Amino acid sequence: MIDRGPAAPDLVGSSLAIIGSGQAASGAFVAGPTFSQYGYSWFRDGAFIAEALDNMGKIEWAARFHHWVAGVVISTAPGLERSREAARAGRTPAAADYLHCRYGADGLPADTDWPTFQLDGPGIWLWSLAHHVLHGGRLDAELVLAVEHVARYLGDLWSLPCADAWEEFDEHVHSSTLAAIRVGMEAALSMVPQLAIEPAIGRLRNEIEDRMSVRDGAYTKWLGNPEVDASLLWMAAPYESVLATEPRFAATLRRIESEIVTAGPGVHRYASDTYYGGGAWPVLTSAYGRVLLRRDGPGDVEHALRALRWIEAQADDRGQLPEQVADHALAPGRIDAWRELWGDSARPLLWSHAAYLSLRSELERRVDFASDHA
Ligand code: BGC
Repeated sequence: MIDRGPAAPDLVGSSLAIIGSGQAASGAFVAGPTFSQYGYSWFRDGAFIAEALDNMGKIEWAARFHHWVAGVVISTAPGLERSREAARAGRTPAAADYLHCRYGADGLPADTDWPTFQLDGPGIWLWSLAHHVLHGGRLDAELVLAVEHVARYLGDLWSLPCADAWEEFDEHVHSSTLAAIRVGMEAALSMVPQLAIEPAIGRLRNEIEDRMSVRDGAYTKWLGNPEVDASLLWMAAPYESVLATEPRFAATLRRIESEIVTAGPGVHRYASDTYYGGGAWPVLTSAYGRVLLRRDGPGDVEHALRALRWIEAQADDRGQLPEQVADHALAPGRIDAWRELWGDSARPLLWSHAAYLSLRSELERRVDFASDHA
């Protein structure tokens, strides 16, 4: 019998309420409604939030987000074509042309100093849309058109350096970004077989595997950087593009566990992270729990449940989850400088709530939570 641990406050209820009120009329999700830097909608955050909503049966909410993305993509179509031409000619696409990583809820690119060119977001969006369709979401003509644009765009741009899932190091080609592009391309093909990108995907699959950085049998952040990065967890869960037992992924997981998982078990982004001191992130702890559920035959339900309880313990008394938790900061000396710049780190973060819901809904198939609120 699995020890369910202490009862949690109604974090499912507060998570849905926070995500619901953070969804703009346009369908965009505002990443961190109260944090000065996160009043925008990211493809990456939104795609993972939509996945959670589909997992919770909130198909309509997810559909509104997907249509918002489709609107952004279609209105950027001429720029996407110019980006493809530039990439094919060996040039870097212009910022006015490529897909940005974050937009205002009105669909206009955000005016910030952060790196805007990130290719993982469009890939994760394609994957999330395919997940939506599998859960009963309707793939209408607007979505199909957007899928075509994004797949062709990624097909030409995939090998360009761009900022990673943490919006950093834009001069490199990141393993985790490549994994997201690959899974996105496969998702595009599954949704729109007439896309005729099958040969390109076949090629891409191999080329991407060759470009992903591997050291001592484990994936690392980028070629020449030996560090492991927790965003690589997404390959096994939720993308399910590799089995958790596949040797290269299993070796990566072992490194993640020994280098960037706290006893808690909160998960850090990477060992040299200094953003707000490099705390532990609920979104990554959720991914870790979901990977554990896919490890070794029946999966490690007990440790996945510990991951869920760790996330629950980070909620404040209003049921709000943060982006990261400073208790186990890797670089505590750096926290104050960020606080002075932008105040406390984001809370609530919609993606953290979504990640909680996704892990929880997977665990619900294995654990009886009935007495949590008894
Ligand atoms: C994270 C990104 C995220 C963004 C908004 C950044 O600090 O590194 O992964 O998309 O915040 O939540």
